[in-house]
Amino acid sequence: MTLFGFGYDVHRMVLGRPCILGGVQIPFDWGPEGHSDGDALVHAVIDALLGAAAEGDIGRRYPDTDPQWKGADSLDLLADTAAFLRQKGFVPQNIDVTLVMQRPKIFPYAKEMVCRLAAAAGISPQRVNVKGKTEEGLGFTGEEKGIAAYAVCSVRKEDV
Ligand code: CDP
Ligand code: ZN
Repeated sequence: MTLFGFGYDVHRMVLGRPCILGGVQIPFDWGPEGHSDGDALVHAVIDALLGAAAEGDIGRRYPDTDPQWKGADSLDLLADTAAFLRQKGFVPQNIDVTLVMQRPKIFPYAKEMVCRLAAAAGISPQRVNVKGKTEEGLGFTGEEKGIAAYAVCSVRKEDV
């Protein structure tokens, strides 16, 4: 059986934080605020995978009140999520993500993000897609106050 999942995440952008998105550090003065590395792109992917398996959400598995996850590398959380799902018989098939961010352009880094997401989720990079989009200067993303990420994925459920 094939199941689909959706994930969404928003982070405020703050001056002086490393800008790590899709596991790639982008040269930019501003970065996403967060208890972990603030990688909204990876967080949306984790929520999509958990959603496909009807296993709740990122905040339930990795509470931001838990000091264990302070400064966590979100790719490690993604790898942990993928391992958890596999154990339950769910095999990720494909991932598609849109990062909404006014600046900078992320397409020069998209290929590297794809490779890192694919490695962490344990799927082929040919089945992972990352794209950027502006909101034409409108709203909180357009005003560069924050970023948003939307992810969908499909997962095959093995009969166990
Ligand atoms: O042209 P359209 O309104 O569809 O898109 P846009 O938001 O103006 O962005 C134009 C193109 O820039 C996108 O198709 C992406 O390839 C790229 N982009 C990006 O790489 N990183 C962003 N943060 C925003 C857009
Ligand atoms: Zn997040």
